[in-house]
Amino acid sequence: MKIAVLRETAEAEARVAATPETAKKFIGLGAEVAVEAGAGAGAHISDQAFIDAGAMVGPRDAVIAGADLIIGVQAPLAADLPGAKSGAMLAAIVAPFADRARVQGYADAGLTAMALEFMPRITRAQSMDVLSSQSNLAGYKAVIDAAEAYGRAFPMMMTAAGTISAARAFIMGVGVAGLQAIATARRLGAIVSATDVRSATKEQIESLGAKAIFVENVKGIEGEGSGGYATEMSDEYKAAQAALVSSHIAKQDIVITTALIPGRPAPRLISDAQIASMRPGSVIVDLAVESGGNVEGSRPGEVVVVHGVTIVGHRNIAGRLAADASALFARNIFNLVNAFWDKEGKTVAFAADDEIVKGIKLTEGGAIVHERLIAA
Ligand code: NAI
Repeated sequence: MKIAVLRETAEAEARVAATPETAKKFIGLGAEVAVEAGAGAGAHISDQAFIDAGAMVGPRDAVIAGADLIIGVQAPLAADLPGAKSGAMLAAIVAPFADRARVQGYADAGLTAMALEFMPRITRAQSMDVLSSQSNLAGYKAVIDAAEAYGRAFPMMMTAAGTISAARAFIMGVGVAGLQAIATARRLGAIVSATDVRSATKEQIESLGAKAIFVENVKGIEGEGSGGYATEMSDEYKAAQAALVSSHIAKQDIVITTALIPGRPAPRLISDAQIASMRPGSVIVDLAVESGGNVEGSRPGEVVVVHGVTIVGHRNIAGRLAADASALFARNIFNLVNAFWDKEGKTVAFAADDEIVKGIKLTEGGAIVHERLIAA
């Protein structure tokens, strides 16, 4: 079985889907690994490091030729996989709803495309979950980006020249990224508060030493929504949440928003009027900016100043920590392959009826096979 590792071609994508560590592990299983030249450059991994791990390094067509499994971070177009054999598997982040024609392209080329971001939220799949591994780093980096844009210090400092008060940080959306943002802001010495629609997060917020800010007496999501995700809230809830946020946000220096609802635009959590109520010099980081944004006026890929408040809208935040993000992404893919490895045949055998396989497989045998895409 031959595994091909692509060099990313998407704009500003510095990550890579394999590392020398995972290349070595694949080879240990009995696979052959071929890496496109320069694939690791953005993550500070040289071609030589892949060669030393036992991989072949070469141009894209040589790497793809005869490959059974092609892996990447952001899936390329089928047209950018010259010579890929019919029946080859492609595993990457696919974003199929954003570009259905691309998915049809994989089907037409006879590729079995797998969307890693569709990994089911089950215990067995936790170690394969790229959304989770990348969100964790994004939550950390969002706080670091905020600290950099903030013209003041995070911790309280008592100096001979007087005392500097601690920054107040508010984290909106306490999933994987939000929890890491709380922990990071706390480590930097900020006074941290956080909110979510899922009441299960209240305890998690408090266990990290932050204050939970929750809408009371209006029905929210008790416990977890489907698969641990949130769903769209009622108008009554949204109004109560907006009022609560308005009174809280004016006293905050740093706000990190991470709220997402799968398959829908990100919920709008902060209005222009609420931004205007904040102290000039405050910073908002909108981690949902690429999904429509939680913050009015945030722009993907830009840092803007509105009412004296800096709104940071970097794209692909995990990719800004390319070395660590690649290491975790690469392990997620290795864990997926390893879980379905056929030791005798020395190949990967994705069982068609497995929950994980059904969750991620988009195309097979020339057709789109994923139920969410067929229904859409
Ligand atoms: P996400 O990225 O979809 O959303 C981020 C957060 O925003 C969520 O906590 C969500 O409840 C919140 N949110 C949505 N709408 C909101 C609103 N209007 N106001 C405030 N907050 C709002 O979620 P993420 O980070 O992917 O994780 C969600 C859950 O899934 C967590 O409980 C996590 O532990 C669980 N999970 C389970 C995995 C597994 O078992 N394999 C893997 C990854 C996550």
